[in-house]
Amino acid sequence: MISTNSIKILNVVKRVTFHRTSQVLQQTRNVAASPLRPPCHTKSFSSSCPRQSVSPDDHHSLTAGTSENFSPTDRGPYFQNSLSEQSVGAVVRRYADELQERDVPEALLSVQHIVASVLDCSRASLESKEGQVLSPSQSEDLRRLITCRLERAPVQYIIGDWDFHDITLDVRPPVFIPRPETEQLADDVIRCVKAWPGAGNPRLLELCCGSGAITLAVLRACPGVEATAVDRSAEAVSLTAHNAVKLGVQSRLTVKQCEVTEEPLVCLPLQRYDIIVANPPYVPTAHLRDLAPEIRLYEDLRALDGGPDGLTVIKLILRQAANLLSEEGLLFLEVDERHGRELPLWLQEEQERNQSLRCLQFVSVQKDFSGRDRFIRFRRVLEHNYS
Ligand SMILES: C[S@@+](CC[C@H](N)C(=O)[O-])C[C@H]1O[C@@H](n2cnc3c(N)ncnc32)[C@H](O)[C@@H]1O
Repeated sequence: MISTNSIKILNVVKRVTFHRTSQVLQQTRNVAASPLRPPCHTKSFSSSCPRQSVSPDDHHSLTAGTSENFSPTDRGPYFQNSLSEQSVGAVVRRYADELQERDVPEALLSVQHIVASVLDCSRASLESKEGQVLSPSQSEDLRRLITCRLERAPVQYIIGDWDFHDITLDVRPPVFIPRPETEQLADDVIRCVKAWPGAGNPRLLELCCGSGAITLAVLRACPGVEATAVDRSAEAVSLTAHNAVKLGVQSRLTVKQCEVTEEPLVCLPLQRYDIIVANPPYVPTAHLRDLAPEIRLYEDLRALDGGPDGLTVIKLILRQAANLLSEEGLLFLEVDERHGRELPLWLQEEQERNQSLRCLQFVSVQKDFSGRDRFIRFRRVLEHNYS
């Protein structure tokens, strides 16, 4: 049995970075074949690229001033060649060159992931298949998927699934693709659940659940636990429910579509939660235009947009947590590195004015694997302990 710590170390060691434009927004994939991945069989792919999350017109304000051309119509003579007679090794090299020439980031890794997906095997096993010749239908699938990558579709959306912690999740545009640093947040929650004092399991609530990554990793690691997961997006809620079924934990998960606002979350039953976890939107609005095309054009920007200072949704979550946490209950948040310092100060000032927040106590800030303050924890205490 591999411990949670060992999984974390393996994941870090085997990590492959996809987007380096924003430190906050790296995307990686564990190289190891997932235990849930079936042995080789024919996989079917959609006949079109993952759709872009909003129309080009809607993106005008974000893309203005950039010179990227994502036209799929001019792909050069390479795409007119039939590759059906070519070996896996040759195809990987040629497509990687093509992506590289077109400045697509992580060209070789992208091609390896896509080829592995077409062959329905792990990326690590590709080396042993270098001489294998692709069938005509595999060549056709591959050519189409590479075209999507040339249009800067994220690899994760192209192949349709992605490893997170020790589970494999289906991923679909425009739902936020789980990022590797969030595995650390899931780990923290798992550790806390396993060490929970008393006989029963803690009640878990995730706000802003996206694909369900955090909650589903916890449910898989902690068999007795039940959880509720909430997101404002219908696509996210539907994907979380789908992933829960895929992972066989649907009987322990309630998924609700509702938006975290100033108002009470009426979608939730009248109860308190022992642990609340969230990886909310925290990118300052002005920074959205600097994001890589993979993110800017394909992911739901409302999953990232944290308002002017990145703290808009985070502050709403703190207010909700003051009402929803049980006594001694914990709130785990993933935040931007600046927020690790700013948020406790904001809470302190706000508590002077707002009595309802006085039950919250800052506990700690933890660093991510790059040494940045990214995970912040609060506890609900008895109000008379407020100082
Ligand atoms: C950064 S993504 C995180 C998704 C997932 N927890 C993960 O770590 O992969 C933020 C998510 O918050 C959701 N969201 C944004 N604002 C929200 C709000 N006010 N109430 C509820 N969900 C919200 C978005 O739809 C998105 O799915």
